[in-house]
Amino acid sequence: MSAEIIDGKAFAKQLRERVGAISADFAAAAGRKPGLAVVLVGEDPASSVYVRNKGKATIGANMESFEHRLPAETSQEELLALVDRLNADPAVDGILVQLPLPSHIHEQTVLTRISPDKDVDGFHPVNAGRLATGLDGFVPCTPLGCLMLLKDRIGHLAGEQAVVVGRSNIVGKPMAQLLLRESCTVTITHSRTRDLFEHLRTADIVVAAVGIPRMIQGEWLKPGATVIDVGINRTEAGLVGDVDFDSAVKVAGAITPVPGGVGPMTIACLIRNTAVAAHRNAG
Ligand code: GUN
Repeated sequence: MSAEIIDGKAFAKQLRERVGAISADFAAAAGRKPGLAVVLVGEDPASSVYVRNKGKATIGANMESFEHRLPAETSQEELLALVDRLNADPAVDGILVQLPLPSHIHEQTVLTRISPDKDVDGFHPVNAGRLATGLDGFVPCTPLGCLMLLKDRIGHLAGEQAVVVGRSNIVGKPMAQLLLRESCTVTITHSRTRDLFEHLRTADIVVAAVGIPRMIQGEWLKPGATVIDVGINRTEAGLVGDVDFDSAVKVAGAITPVPGGVGPMTIACLIRNTAVAAHRNAG
């Protein structure tokens, strides 16, 4: 038996097309397109590619893209001043500051300065709090994309045993909150968890976001499990996930590939969140 391969690329394309149609309707009614501002500080090559791809997806979805590329020496004060200007700009519905930031800038200070109503990344503590307490807010894009793939594959998630591997603010913690909101029984594990396989062997759903190449072995999985691999690890063998795909594909019921699984969903959810922000800000 071989697992179904979950085609995140195709799913993301459909989502981007749906958002594009919604944006066109918004523009016709509001007399302006939804706008997304993306801020990149420094020249990290991977971040630069992500930012370029975000810009392309934004324009492709009938939105306005405002790209701000700042030198690595930019001070925290200068960056905060730019965030303030974007917060006040009525053409900007969503603001994203690409992470990681250079080490002289305090990430939480910058993320907390973004207006929660323009925080399409969902990283502001107000939005994290809204997610944790069941209020409407912005949900971080990668876990939101993972949830969409899970619902598409499984349908109702209530009662499923879900194990999240990783505890980052960007993926692990919000993923666990989203699964809890769907009435899963959620276990959060991480790089220091003892005997990870003991947790995985009863998991119907595994979301791997720990950043360790091919850490999770197929033999640790429950047969038929749905496996979402968020890992994007650059190795000598090329891009690999946090799950050892070759062994996992023989045991899982469904699995996302790397690349082509979760990755494309992140940008699709970003433009989805921007369309939602535009409607909320206009209304
Ligand atoms: N760096 C890696 N992933 C992300 C993301 O989803 N948002 C931002 N702002 N930076 C990132």
